[in-house]
Amino acid sequence: MTDVLKVDPAHPDTELIARAAECLRAGGLVAFPTETVYGLGAHALDRSAVLRLFAAKERPANDPLIVHVATLEAAAPLVEEIPPTARALAARFWPGPLTLVLKRSARVPGEVTAGLATVAIRVPSHPVARALLEQARIPVAAPSANLFSRPSPTRAAHVIADLDGRIDLIVDGGATDVGLESTVVDLSEDVPTILRPGAIDLDALRHVEPGVVSRRAGASQPAAFASPGMLPKHYSPRTPVVLYEGTRETALARLHSDAQQRVGRGESVVVLSYTEDVSGLRHLGVRIVEVGAEGNPAAVAARLYDALRECDELGASTILVRNITASHPLSGAIQDRLRRSAALIQDP
Ligand code: TXA
Ligand code: MG
Repeated sequence: MTDVLKVDPAHPDTELIARAAECLRAGGLVAFPTETVYGLGAHALDRSAVLRLFAAKERPANDPLIVHVATLEAAAPLVEEIPPTARALAARFWPGPLTLVLKRSARVPGEVTAGLATVAIRVPSHPVARALLEQARIPVAAPSANLFSRPSPTRAAHVIADLDGRIDLIVDGGATDVGLESTVVDLSEDVPTILRPGAIDLDALRHVEPGVVSRRAGASQPAAFASPGMLPKHYSPRTPVVLYEGTRETALARLHSDAQQRVGRGESVVVLSYTEDVSGLRHLGVRIVEVGAEGNPAAVAARLYDALRECDELGASTILVRNITASHPLSGAIQDRLRRSAALIQDP
């Protein structure tokens, strides 16, 4: 049985949080909201709790977890050292949607890091996550609270859809704010490298650390191996996604003609659409799921995974979507997640 505790996201009830914290301390699995997506927490130093977490998510053991702590100081025992770059980035962006990969200490179980010599650390800013970490007083390993390869959950209902009966507790703090997973930056090598784009973009990071680089798409295998969660299998709905790239005009024109052909062949098509595109799609005989205004990328990010799940539930044969073109700190992360969801169909 999975219990659901509803809490006020801004001022969570101390007694309810204490119950969730006690469950974590005792080796239980607790889903909770962070500012990015819902996480599925387990005591990071309790091997059997961590193994149960992998089993509940059906997550492969070679995909390492992010360890969540309340403060930078609480991370110290988990890492070999806190380098100056980590201190600088933490001072600017923690608590917040940034994950730092550092050389790990012997205290972190190999199950958490998938045997890597590094550990990913994050201090979340969501009041529920903070209260939980402060009360639990343990490091909490927490991947996104979805079944492996499903879109990350941004509401408690998504967690229930994927994990009901598989975990002990869900702390329901409403919809998450950012809607996409944290930016992951590897600080374990000489050059600080973004492994996963998120709300804190390259420009913001470079304001603090000018040397940060993006891992280029198609970069060498070792980088891909260093962050196995970045395989294209992630963030995918079950329905195949076809993604249209390029300017608004060219992408929309190709989407329209493709939709027309597919509908003509009797396919059931759903278009994941920006608000600005909706009226032009109405005559095509497709179903439309709105993801928000292209001119408001923060709203698109917040709604993206919810909208992908909604598309999936329509049981269509294909999801068509145009990639976002707006210039905004979140655009890179949105483009990345849309490319990943579309890549599933090329995955054997
Ligand atoms: O926003 C988030 O980061 C959410 C919330 C719950 O905090 N968590 C999350 O966890 O997205 P997960 O497990 O879905 O994604 C973790 C990512 C994966 O891409 C994983 O490969 C990478 O972090 N990662 C974890 N440990 C790593 C390590 N030691 N080296 C490189 N990448 C690592
Ligand atoms: Mg995930």
